[in-house]
Formats: sequence, structure tokens, C-alpha cells
Amino acid sequence: MTEAPLLAAARRDNPDDRIPVWFMRQAGRSLPEYKKVREGISMLDACTMPELVREITLQPVRRHGVDAAIFYSDIMVPVKAVGLDLDITPGIGPQIATPFRSRADLDRLPELTPDDIGFVDEAVRLIVEELGGSDSAVPLIGFAGAPFTLASYLIEGGPSKDYARTKALMLADPELWHDLCDRLAQISRVFLEVQVAAGARMVQLFDSWAGSLPARDYQRYVMPHSAGILAALGESGVPRIHFGVGTGELLPLIAQAGADVVGVDWRIPLDEAARRVGPAYALQGNLDPALLTAPWEVLAERVRDVIRAGAAADGHIFNLGHGVPPTTDATVLTRIVELVHNEGPDIRRAARAAADQPERMPQ
Ligand code: CP3
Repeated sequence: MTEAPLLAAARRDNPDDRIPVWFMRQAGRSLPEYKKVREGISMLDACTMPELVREITLQPVRRHGVDAAIFYSDIMVPVKAVGLDLDITPGIGPQIATPFRSRADLDRLPELTPDDIGFVDEAVRLIVEELGGSDSAVPLIGFAGAPFTLASYLIEGGPSKDYARTKALMLADPELWHDLCDRLAQISRVFLEVQVAAGARMVQLFDSWAGSLPARDYQRYVMPHSAGILAALGESGVPRIHFGVGTGELLPLIAQAGADVVGVDWRIPLDEAARRVGPAYALQGNLDPALLTAPWEVLAERVRDVIRAGAAADGHIFNLGHGVPPTTDATVLTRIVELVHNEGPDIRRAARAAADQPERMPQ
């Protein structure tokens, strides 16, 4: 059998006949079967229960026929595993009992060892066993949070609109900032390496909130730390997706940090993103998640637009521009997968053929 479409697209060896599709935050969230198995169990507890993690990870694969499974966990799980006191509150997100403010706080963040996350190793093995290990099997994507996004939760103590304390610490005490990011990079790197060693065949580094930074600060204070993680993972040979929200102005740097695939939110079309990052990268994205509530024909036309614009890249993995909103009707996601699989190849062929035509002079 041939290679899984997801992996082929990441290598930009993306034949016309199948556009891979999956959704960020497809595991958990809107599925009734998820709410049922999670009943009475907190998010962070659920993440330490390998059988349950397998079930939740595979639910969207069974239901929607997506081309990837994403590991059910959270970017905060490895931070919790080294002993930091935190919780994930439904509807809000991660909350840190005592936020980071000074050098002494680094003592609360020891290095992560694979032994701290044996439950991750076990869960990934169970998932991969069920997905099957052949080249054509649906691949499992492992993931981690990038240092800036993790640091923002640690410093702000929870979600933030402006990242004011994070940026203040970064600029006022660069030495502490870099030490904190070094430690977070070590933690995320080991989290990813454990997932890859157990059978994850692709990884995604989430720097969800890096788009709040100007390019100059991103390049100086953030990019080297993310680049270190991506370089370490590159040695294992798994393709690496690098994603953030609001990163239109950062896209070339997000790519150069060491991505194979650049994740693009919904703010710029994929042909423009392809122009910004250049031909050496595949793209992932970028349907606006807000449109999942629009009438089907309106949404379907936007799905086709994304495929058309994605034809400008040598490899395109269809996805949303950010995660599935909690209120999403799951049947809409299934319809999108069907549309991308059934109509995608023709739409892409037509878009590429049109791009190859010499411009016609207006009459
Ligand atoms: O389906 C998947 O994508 C796999 C699992 C996954 C979760 N979190 C499960 C989860 C992944 C990949 C993440 C990554 C994550 N976590 C990110 C990066 C992706 C992004 O959205 O930008 C971030 C920033 C977090 C931190 C976090 N955890 C937030 C902001 C929230 C949302 C809070 C809410 O309820 O709206 C969480 C909680 C969380 N992580 C949930 C899930 C399924 C929902 C809570 C629950 O089910 O109890």
C-alpha cells in the first residue's frame, strides 16, 4: 500500500488524488461520545489514563474518517508532570496556582525525564497498536507547547489577552526569560521524544500565542528556543508542523525555525502564505473555525476556496485555522472531510491548471 496521505503531503510529495484532512482539537470537545467517557473525570486525570486516552484519541478517527489522529493530552501535561501546581478549568483553560515572577520560581520547574510520563508512552503505544503500524495506516500526530506559549501561562497564571506580564519579564530580565525558556524547551522536547519513540509519526509544535509578538522580538527571544526543539525532533526524521495564531507577519520565521509544515490561521489565504514562506514548506490550514456554524452551502464554498488557495503550495494538509470550537456540531466536521476527499482532487487540479495558463489579456 502507498504512504499515508498526511505524511506524503508533509514531504510535499502531494499527488493530486487525495488531500489529507484533520482538525486541531478534534479529540474531545464537541463529541457526545467524548463527554460520556469523560464524565466525572478531570481533564488532567484523564490524560494519565492510557486506555481512556486511546479511546478519546480514536473517537474522531472512527467518526469522521480523518487522515490523522491527534494525541489526546494537553500542552500543560508535562509541566504538571514535573510537579508544578496547575489545573485545567473547562471553559477557561490552564490555571497556575502560583504564577512565575522571579528566578526563585525556576526551582519549581525541574527537568522532565521520560519516567515522569510513563503514562504518555503507554497511551501512545496503545493508540498506535490499534491504528496499525503500516505505512498506509492513519498516523498519530504527537504534540507539545512551544516555550513562549507555555511561559505565557506560567507567568500570567492563566489565559491572557495582552500577555503584558510575559512581555515585561521578557524585556526586563532577558537572562531569566532565556533560562525559563530553556527549561520549558527541555520539557517539551522530552514530551515529544517520548511520543515519537512510542510510535507517533508526525509532531506539531503549538506556539498558539506567539502571534502577539512583533517579528523582531519573536526572532530574538522566542525563535531560538523553538528552533532547538524542532532541530532535536528533526533527527528522528518525523515531519514537524509549527503553528501559531495571528502569525501572518511571522510566517517566514515560523518556517525557518525548523518546520516541514507551516500551520496558518484563517487571516491570510494559503496562496499568500505560500508566497511568504517560499517553496520549501508544506502548509496546513486554514478554514475559519467561526464558519462552522454558517449554513452548509456557505461553509462548503469556503472549504473549496481553501483547497483552491492551498494548490499554490506543493503540500497541503487541510485543517481549520485554529481549534474546533466547543459548540461545534460534529456532523459538520464529517461533511467537511467528505467534501475534501471527494471534491478536493478535482478542485486542486483545476486550480493548478489555471495557474499554469499564461495570463489572458482582457478584451
Ligand atoms: O484534539 C486535540 O487537539 C488533542 C488534544 C489537545 C488538547 N489541548 C485537549 C484539550 C491539544 C493538542 C491541546 C493543545 C493546547 N492546550 C493548546 C494549543 C492548541 C491551541 O488551541 O492553540 C493550548 C493553548 C492549550 C491550553 C488549553 N487547554 C486551553 C486554552 C484549553 C481550553 C479551555 C476550554 O475549555 O475552552 C485547554 C483545555 C483542553 N485541552 C480541552 C481539551 C479537549 C477542553 C477541556 C475539557 O475537555 O475538559
